[in-house]
Amino acid sequence: MNRELRESFHREYMTFFENAERTRRWSLFNDVDWNALDTARPDDTLATNAETFCGVEMFLPDYLNTHLELFGRDYAQAWFAANWGYEESKHSLVLREYLRRSGQRTEEQLHDYADTVLAQRWERPYASPREMLIYGMIQELTTFVVYRSQRTLAIDTGHEVLADIYRLIGRDEMAHTKFYQHMVALHLDDDRAGTLADLAHVLRTFRMPAEQLLPNADARAELMRSTGINAQVYLRDIVAPTLSALHLTRHDLPGPRQSPPDRMR
Ligand SMILES: [Fe+2]
Ligand SMILES: [Fe+2]
Repeated sequence: MNRELRESFHREYMTFFENAERTRRWSLFNDVDWNALDTARPDDTLATNAETFCGVEMFLPDYLNTHLELFGRDYAQAWFAANWGYEESKHSLVLREYLRRSGQRTEEQLHDYADTVLAQRWERPYASPREMLIYGMIQELTTFVVYRSQRTLAIDTGHEVLADIYRLIGRDEMAHTKFYQHMVALHLDDDRAGTLADLAHVLRTFRMPAEQLLPNADARAELMRSTGINAQVYLRDIVAPTLSALHLTRHDLPGPRQSPPDRMR
């Protein structure tokens, strides 16, 4: 990677980090109103969803390993991984605390769940660093959309504490999305044709990580049901805003690659 691009990445990271430090830090212990938690009102759907997303966030070690393996020698991207990992670590933890403090899961159940989830391994779905950066951009926005819908569900059913948790997590996911969008924009400036080809490929083949990860088919079906993300929502809430943020339209994207036919598997 050329030095100019590395320097641009660094400026982008400094902006991201400054915003995070100044406006976005939150504490699991101080910023969630645990005293307002109503333990007398369990909700099976909300609890199962929180557990599922807690599980997706629990693959953090694999996400981080991959990120550092691909980008660890690039100063800005390595430091991003360190900061990003800290922020992501709170996401599974706050959902876990919610399940425990609301009395919907015991400590033992949560340890069993962690054992089951971490027995699996997340493998990166794309080979090249640039494809993985694009994948990260789409993944963060998908996660944001998922948490936004969970927040609405929590508000509609009167679970304010959980709604507030999803607000805090969702705000982080949106900040991550924006960082990745800026990084991909820099790649577009550097190699437009190559980056557009990668973008088209990832947008066409993107899968939620949990689709490959979660231990059984029932869990996957539950996840897809609970996210509310279908093909139409994917195009409207994920593909369209991504292209717009990059000042692109779908006409800028090249057609499908000829071979290999499906690099996801
Ligand atoms: Fe997260
Ligand atoms: Fe994130």
